[in-house]
Amino acid sequence: MIKINSINPKNNHLVVNWNDGTNDSFHYVWLRDHLQCSDFFDSNTKERLVDAHTYLTNTQPNEINIKNGNLNILWPGEKMQSEYSAQWLHSNSYSKKCLNSKKESFLESIDWQFNSFEEVARFDYQKIFKDNNVAYQLLNHFCNNGFSFIENAPQKPGVVKEITNWLGYLREVSFGDVRDIKNEAGSLNVAFTSREAKPHIDGTNYIHPYVVQFLHCIQNQAEGGNSNIVDGFAMANNLKKINQSAFDTLTKVKVKYKIGAGEHDMSHSAPVIELDREGKLYLIRFSNQQRRELSIPFEDIENFYFSYNLFSKMVNDPTNQLKFRFQPGNILMFNNLRILHAREAFNLNSGLRHLQLASTDIEMVYSRLRRLSNNKIP
Ligand SMILES: [Fe+2]
Repeated sequence: MIKINSINPKNNHLVVNWNDGTNDSFHYVWLRDHLQCSDFFDSNTKERLVDAHTYLTNTQPNEINIKNGNLNILWPGEKMQSEYSAQWLHSNSYSKKCLNSKKESFLESIDWQFNSFEEVARFDYQKIFKDNNVAYQLLNHFCNNGFSFIENAPQKPGVVKEITNWLGYLREVSFGDVRDIKNEAGSLNVAFTSREAKPHIDGTNYIHPYVVQFLHCIQNQAEGGNSNIVDGFAMANNLKKINQSAFDTLTKVKVKYKIGAGEHDMSHSAPVIELDREGKLYLIRFSNQQRRELSIPFEDIENFYFSYNLFSKMVNDPTNQLKFRFQPGNILMFNNLRILHAREAFNLNSGLRHLQLASTDIEMVYSRLRRLSNNKIP
């Protein structure tokens, strides 16, 4: 069991020497901020009770002791010493090696290595619910590759609701909760027609497009209508490699997207390639069909079109696409921020093509993976 052997107080931090021969350093301001006593911290909810600025101005300890291998500190203005258990301190160390070990491996996205859809793993629908190992593999594959492919689901409406509820909840979007993907007379969106839908993500008109999508095939007897998906992150990485300037342009120039959805007037302008605060790929906001009037400075126009054309060519290149045909009972689970999806036109008179689509939040995937990793789900 981890214990504190000795301590070495410095000017603004404390060096803690553990009984395993290693050491970690903790700033006094960090230690005071992480008080565990009930005046400052609700141990049930794990919520802080006091405003930081009211007690983090004077953080030089009056006394520091080791008691039973744990750390005890008397802070200014306090009558009692505050205890920090060695185990808690050790597991919350923010040394460089600890920060690195706390990174969650499932958060890493890996550019595709698939040569054809035949190489893609298949997950059995019933086993996802019954076998935690299968559930973990499904969600881990989804995080690494941006999608997972499920087989043998019931061929009936409502299955997407069942699986989003299994993960957490179903997220409603402007088109509704469960969306029927089939030809609808007078539809405002290409998805609900029999026309071809070129590679795109959904929800480009949202500031934060919805992330996790389940697309379930109930019937597919129509001629045509074959599907394909493209790894948007791999395409962006490729663009960066062959033309950094074009990549930079697509991370900066704002493109307007608008999608007709009943009485709503929802539009948003944002770059095609969005990076997170660490500069990593976050979102490929690509939907040529839903792109609206380009309104950018005169001198930027030609540069934008040059860059956009390069990217458009890549995502529409058949060698970059994984082609497949939805069979009844198949479900494509995909990260809508990364994976572009597409469908050929289909013949309306040749049979019914009916899919259902539902969304949930990525936090539900991460939450389930953490719980499965910690064996918290029986
Ligand atoms: Fe779509």
